Amino acid sequence: MIAELIKLAREVEKCKKCPLHKYRTKPVVGEGDEQASIMLIGEAPGKNEDKEGRPFVGAAGIYLTNILREIGVDRVETYMTNAVKCRPPNNRKPTKKELDACRPYLLKQIEIIKPKVLICLGKCAAYSVLGREVEIKKEAGTLLNCNGTHVMLTYHPAFVMRFRGEYENNFIEHMRHAVLSKYFKKLDGMKKHA
Ligand code: URA
Ligand code: SF4
Repeated sequence: MIAELIKLAREVEKCKKCPLHKYRTKPVVGEGDEQASIMLIGEAPGKNEDKEGRPFVGAAGIYLTNILREIGVDRVETYMTNAVKCRPPNNRKPTKKELDACRPYLLKQIEIIKPKVLICLGKCAAYSVLGREVEIKKEAGTLLNCNGTHVMLTYHPAFVMRFRGEYENNFIEHMRHAVLSKYFKKLDGMKKHA
């Protein structure tokens, strides 16, 4: 692991910037290729993630991993993390204050890894990346160009897993579009997909 990411992980391990530190077993900093062109950002660690200290290892994570494989991406080629690094009690949504407290770690990860494409899985990730409220049902499928980095807004895999149908088809298309966008020469403004 590159030195800067190790340093960041040490900081997160000691972090008490928000109340979530009280509930964590292990913080979940992130995992994957430090030079990944694709970074996936979820909401928060769940029960399994908290136990293992790894992102996306529970049911939603397995589902996401399978969808990635379906579109030709092995999760080890990506970098996966969450908007907050500690598990909220009973898997409740992180509050705005908690998201704001944890955001600097996420921004630092983006700065170190410099992915070409950021995939925001759900509202919390979109809020932390863009710094504004996102109505995900309206904005899912939008690919933004944020200072040269492509940002795809899409659903959270736990939501897609629950409702399937069109959500699943669209989710797969969003993921495919995001992954392919790393080959686009130029992405002007905003594009909405599916
Ligand atoms: N697992 C994670 O690591 N993050 C999520 O958002 C959901 C499941
Ligand atoms: Fe710190 Fe983030 Fe954990 Fe809150 S969730 S204690 S800000 S690492």
